[in-house]
Amino acid sequence: MALDMNYVRGAFPTLEKDWVYMDNAGGSQILKGCVDKISHYYYNHHVQLGGSYDISQASLKAFAEGREKIATFFNAARADEMVFGPSTTVLLQFLSKAMASQFKPGDEVIVTITDHESNIGPWVWLEQYGVTVKFWPMNMETYELELDTLDALMTDKTKLVAVTHVSNLLGTINDVKSIAKFVHDRGALICVDGVAYAPHRAVDVQDWDVDFYVLSLYKTYGPHHAALYCKYDQMKELDSIYHYFYGKDKIPAKMEPGNANYELSYASGAITDYLCQLGEMAGCTGSDREKLEVAFQDITEQETILSERLLSYLSKRNDCTVIGISDGSSPRRVPTIAFTVEGQDPEQICLAMDKYKIAIRFGDFHARRLADELDITSGNGAVRVSLTHYNTLEEVDKLINAFDEILGS
Ligand SMILES: Cc1ncc(COP(=O)(O)O)c(C=O)c1O
Repeated sequence: MALDMNYVRGAFPTLEKDWVYMDNAGGSQILKGCVDKISHYYYNHHVQLGGSYDISQASLKAFAEGREKIATFFNAARADEMVFGPSTTVLLQFLSKAMASQFKPGDEVIVTITDHESNIGPWVWLEQYGVTVKFWPMNMETYELELDTLDALMTDKTKLVAVTHVSNLLGTINDVKSIAKFVHDRGALICVDGVAYAPHRAVDVQDWDVDFYVLSLYKTYGPHHAALYCKYDQMKELDSIYHYFYGKDKIPAKMEPGNANYELSYASGAITDYLCQLGEMAGCTGSDREKLEVAFQDITEQETILSERLLSYLSKRNDCTVIGISDGSSPRRVPTIAFTVEGQDPEQICLAMDKYKIAIRFGDFHARRLADELDITSGNGAVRVSLTHYNTLEEVDKLINAFDEILGS
């Protein structure tokens, strides 16, 4: 069933303004439900948690509700598998720190060339403990990560593989379920960066059987906040990165030093509420999780329509090279579309686009190693148009008209 676009756009108050937001992989617009919950928290719960008094108890409940709802978003088996933090970058740094004692000199970690630096740097940091870090390269013709290549890298010393679900430059969905099985069969753990995937498809950590999965809630219609899933068996093994008197058993607080931000954690629950509402509007009467999955089917449908329109335009232009899958109907593509234009500076294109009040972005998007590999770092990277389900075909056509005027038709 098609999304009710009036409802969708009404749920994001900032879309009423005169800008067209197509920098969603940088940061999405925020749901009104999240903003309301932040205000509600401040007006009703703004005390320290853990006190015996009523308001403090109610605040604790609100914080816990946020965690429960985000657990539903991830399809985690239990809410205490979820860790909140300020950003994906910080959460992955916390994770590598909390895992450091599990590695011994000579152990190996594999990272990919296609990842955002957030899921590379924290693992490279382990080199100081004698860990060897290997890079899983992509096939330079298809831009795909291949299991045969991973196989050649893995040894009995490989303890962890860190891989992105979707590169924020390529937009290709990796088959995380197959990769997780492959990695587990060889005795290692898997840590997945789901940041560029989560706004577009339903996350399901149980189905994929991943050990760690992280995403940025501020790119997934929520506030500037992030969430990390740690499978319970792995969560138990993590060292506490909180005070010395909080041990390994302080789950999940041992991973939230100084406490997670209460109001943003509570407010993030409104992301799940919104998706459930979309599912209900599509006729789903099942569980919250079922409603959310139906919502993402509709979201995918809308985004595919948008991708098809933009990618068919870019493919027809002789001067544009799309980085990644150029078939907009591919089920393996999210609408995060990066490209280069022959003889044109990505920065100048974006500056020209600003005049049309269409927000897009240029650069390497902190996937610096991938940009180097693609040989685009010296020239201001690529232009990236990152769409999401609240964008409309009219907006994409406005963008295309602007490109025609800026680049020549
Ligand atoms: C794929 C990917 N991973 C990680 C990050 C880092 O997220 P955060 O800003 O929450 O640290 C980003 C941000 O752009 C991203 O696109």
